[in-house]
Amino acid sequence: MTILVTGGAGFIGSNFVLDWVEQVGEPVVNLDALTYAGNRANLAALAGDARHTFVHGDICDRALVDRLLAEHRPRAIVHFAAESHVDRSISGPAEFMRTNVTGTFTLLEGARAHWGGLQGAEREAFRFHHVSTDEVYGSLAPDAPAFTEDHPYEPNSPYSASKAASDHLVRAWHHTYGLPVVTTNCSNNYGPFHFPEKLIPLMIVNALAGKPLPIYGDGQNVRDWLYVRDHCSGIRAVLAGGRLGETYNIGGWNEKTNLEIVHTVCDLLDELKPDAAGSYRRLITYVKDRPGHDRRYAIDARKVERELGWRPAETFDTGIRKTVRWYLDHTDWVQQVQSGAYRDWVSQQYGAERRA
Ligand code: NAD
Ligand code: DAU
Repeated sequence: MTILVTGGAGFIGSNFVLDWVEQVGEPVVNLDALTYAGNRANLAALAGDARHTFVHGDICDRALVDRLLAEHRPRAIVHFAAESHVDRSISGPAEFMRTNVTGTFTLLEGARAHWGGLQGAEREAFRFHHVSTDEVYGSLAPDAPAFTEDHPYEPNSPYSASKAASDHLVRAWHHTYGLPVVTTNCSNNYGPFHFPEKLIPLMIVNALAGKPLPIYGDGQNVRDWLYVRDHCSGIRAVLAGGRLGETYNIGGWNEKTNLEIVHTVCDLLDELKPDAAGSYRRLITYVKDRPGHDRRYAIDARKVERELGWRPAETFDTGIRKTVRWYLDHTDWVQQVQSGAYRDWVSQQYGAERRA
């Protein structure tokens, strides 16, 4: 009973593969193009484990997708592979359209051809699980109710527009062809192996290096944070019991402003690795806002709880403490991902023109 995971060398995908092998124990075929965000070191714990097969390749390569489906006959595809960083989508949207839209289309067509040839129990069991984001719903006013699954799609960035497009393709392949799909729309994840271009890991690694902690705009934008392993258990629950063609919102019930997040990270570092120069809060620096910056996201995760009994196991306090400790214990991983390409991104993104 193999599953095919796409993007399983990235942040959430690698946590999912590790979680799946630990919790379910079934074999995983992991298709990943190893872009700047993909890292085989995330999967080092599975070296020599016959349950994990890594395939270096592109989800836009239909012949490869067809070959993997024919060879491994997976009972499910769990689709994480994407370009995922909003700021990169603003400075270079083309790759987002290719991977997130054309890549999802290619996988859907591969899955449709494969599923069309299955029979009996194998056909009945097959699932296409599309991993998506709360950003497709747009931005919430401060006191508006959290996003339910019925919230209209109002994507605001090239990234969220590309994810919204992929969600619509998945919906249409179910509606038109009957492909057995489920979609999850999740809030902001954090935890181990999070690439330090995103808020929480960037703040941790910059603080430890004594560098400025860049806060976009007024720091009052709100995100709903979920520990990554809770996202993984949510995906397992939906894959196992989600109704076909349905979408499920997954979130942490943890709305925080960016400034609150950065204060928490600084305070934990002050406790766990005090700096003789004083509190890490001294490094907080306000910079020019992200163009089109969504003000607030919040997930109403009652449907997945009601139907499937899923709730997050971590509170924000326990999850963020584990995360900060993980970065303190894995400075080798941080050094490895901060390659030349990473430095180019940081100087492009936070260079002179960004300073407030
Ligand atoms: P990530 O950027 O850390 O990882 C993406 C992975 O996809 C990388 O391993 C990369 O090499 C791979 N990839 C990119 N293009 C590919 C291609 N053409 N073919 C094959 N592999 C390719 O992303 P993440 O943060 O782990 O997000 C995973 C998924 O979850 C994405 O679909 C994202 O939209 C969604 N999501 C992320 C969050 C979050 O907070 N990070 C929240 C909700 C949903
Ligand atoms: O909501 C789910 C989404 O969360 C996922 O779909 C995306 O893949 C993921 O990247 C994330 O998007 P965000 O844009 O919310 O995450 P990011 O970590 O880039 O930014 C979080 C908030 O912090 C956002 O309001 C922008 C702000 N920020 C970010 C960076 C990198 C800063 O203030 N300074 C920074 O340097």
